[in-house]
Order: sequence, then structure tokens, then C-alpha cells
Amino acid sequence: MLIRLPNASRCLPSEITPEPVYLSRRRFMAAAAAGVAGSALPGLARARDAASPYDVPAPDDQPAWFTDKLPQAQWKAVDVRGEAITPFQDATHYNNFYEFGPDKGDPADHASAMPTEPWSVVIEGAVAKPGTYSLEDLVQPHRLEERIYRLRCVEAWSMVIPWLGFPLGKLIERAEPTAGAKYVAFQTAQLPEAMPALRSRFSLIDWPYREGLRMDEAMHPLTLMAVGMYGRVLEPQNGAPLRLVVPWKYGFKSIKSIVRISLVEQQPYTTWQDLAPQEYGFYANVNPQVDHPRWSQARERRLPTNLFSTNVRDTLMFNGYADEVASLYQGMDLRRYY
Ligand code: MTE
Repeated sequence: MLIRLPNASRCLPSEITPEPVYLSRRRFMAAAAAGVAGSALPGLARARDAASPYDVPAPDDQPAWFTDKLPQAQWKAVDVRGEAITPFQDATHYNNFYEFGPDKGDPADHASAMPTEPWSVVIEGAVAKPGTYSLEDLVQPHRLEERIYRLRCVEAWSMVIPWLGFPLGKLIERAEPTAGAKYVAFQTAQLPEAMPALRSRFSLIDWPYREGLRMDEAMHPLTLMAVGMYGRVLEPQNGAPLRLVVPWKYGFKSIKSIVRISLVEQQPYTTWQDLAPQEYGFYANVNPQVDHPRWSQARERRLPTNLFSTNVRDTLMFNGYADEVASLYQGMDLRRYY
């Protein structure tokens, strides 16, 4: 994640240092630095799939479990009114997926080496129906819904992305949670052959990447399991084939390439909380009134930006989803539970 944000209204890509690099500096005084280049992006090609409303090419080898579902997809099931959708090129070339490197372009450069077929997900813990499920079986009972959500990174940039998926709550219901299910823990695949950071001796992250939600957050209808975006299957750099999207929380909660979902009694360990607990909390709700210790969270830079516009706007409480989710946190001190 980012550092050196002297003033949130001027957070240029060139001023950003990825968090692992920052932490390695801070902890080991290593002389590592990585600038992040913003991208000037070419136009989009013609859509290939008639079922998709987007002018974005789909890969030739989209899996049948996905294409079979597209004709019945519910487009714009949730929308963001009056805010432009981020161009596909930005959403797929300015990414955080630290398994593939610390720079924003690393995931697009390297994640295609990640094998995503076949894919299975373990569902375990406090459920009546634990098991290892193929991706096809997991997706099969669900109608795909398009959810156009804001994505607000804790680094103070944001996008608007049209995801395709189904509510996590429906998946959890099928596993039949038992009384001990108080939290949901998630894990990303651990594929050292494909993920350079997992082979590195200098990585600060204790892999696999892990995240978690409280049970009521996981069951909230806005919480999505995404399998596609822009009317097509997810790109590897965005977390193919299955990722979480929790639109009212900072982006690091939206864990990618999930292989394990555990229903547990205790609040689970999470990657960023482990790495820097004073900076990244378990809740990580977007909150313009609670700054990150090293930068303001009051404003955000909506991508794409260019030389003439930094495209800075005010950050909204719960990322604009307060009407839907504020009640989940009633009575909680959000400065303490950040
Ligand atoms: N999931 C995994 N496994 N590894 C990561 O490094 N980064 C998180 C989140 N999910 C991350 C992850 C962060 S910090 C953000 S902001 C979002 O993914 C970015 O999602 P995007 O690249 O699709 O925009």
C-alpha cells in the first residue's frame, strides 16, 4: 500500500511507494524504491460477446461455466449513479496483487502465469456441509448479477468497476453455517511457481494472503463473490477466478483468487493487520473522518487521472454505502475499530 502522501489532494502516482517496499525500508533500512507509473491507455476494442453491454474484448477461451450464465445475467443490479465507470484498461493495469510484485503494473505483467483451471475452493469450519467444491459447482446455482461498485483503496485512489458475481451470503447459506460461525476467513491460492513474491526471501508478507469478515458483513447483500468484470470473465490480475468484493471497505479486504473459506468462532488473522496493525485494522471501513496514520483519508484520486486533472474528490462515509451498511456498526467507536 502507499506512503508519502504529503497532501491527499495531490497524490500523484509518482509519489507513491508500495507498502512492502516502505515496510522493508522502515524495518531493514533497505535501499529499495519503486515508482509507480500511471498509464496512458489505448482505446478499447469491440465487444465479442453479444450478451455483454461492454465494448471490451472477451478472451477466446472463456470457460463454459461463465459463458453459459451470461445470457441470464442481471445487468446493473446495483449501479453508481452519475459516476463514470473506470476504463477497463485502467482497472486491469493499475492493480494491487502483491503475490506478483509491488508495482501497480506487476499483476498485469505476471498474473497470467497463474493456472486458474481447474479451480476448487475448500469450505470448512462451522458449517453442516463442509467440502472441496469445484468452481463450476460453486457458481452453478447462482444467477450472475452485475454490481457497479466504487472501489476505494486505502492508498487514496479509487475506481468504479462493473463486477459480475453473486452474493457471498448465498454461498454461505448453501454450506449451512452452524452456531459457531461468527466470522468468515478467506485465503488466496499459494502458487510459488507462478507468484514471484512467494519465492522471494525478502517478502514481508506471511503467505498466503488472508482476509476476514464478521458474519453479518459476509451475509450482507452488498458483499459479492466476483467471477467477472466488464461483462467478461475476471482477468488474473483482478483475482481470477473468484474474488471477494466488499464495496464499503478499503480494497485490501477484497481478497483475490480465493481457495479457502472458513467459518470460524474467533476474529481471524488478516494479512495487513498482521503486517502493520496500527495502520490497517480488521474492519477497514472506508471512513473520511479517520485518517491513516501517515495520510489523510478525506479525499481520493479517482482514476484515470491525467496531466490536466488529478480528478480528486471527497471520500464518502462507507464509500457511499452508508444507507445500506451503517447499521452494522451502530454503537461501535469507528476510531477504535478502524
Ligand atoms: N488479494 C490478494 N490475494 N493479494 C493482494 O495483494 N491486494 C488488495 C486486494 N486483494 C491484494 C488482494 C488490495 S490492497 C486492493 S486495493 C485490491 O485487491 C485491488 O484490487 P484490483 O487490483 O482488482 O483493483
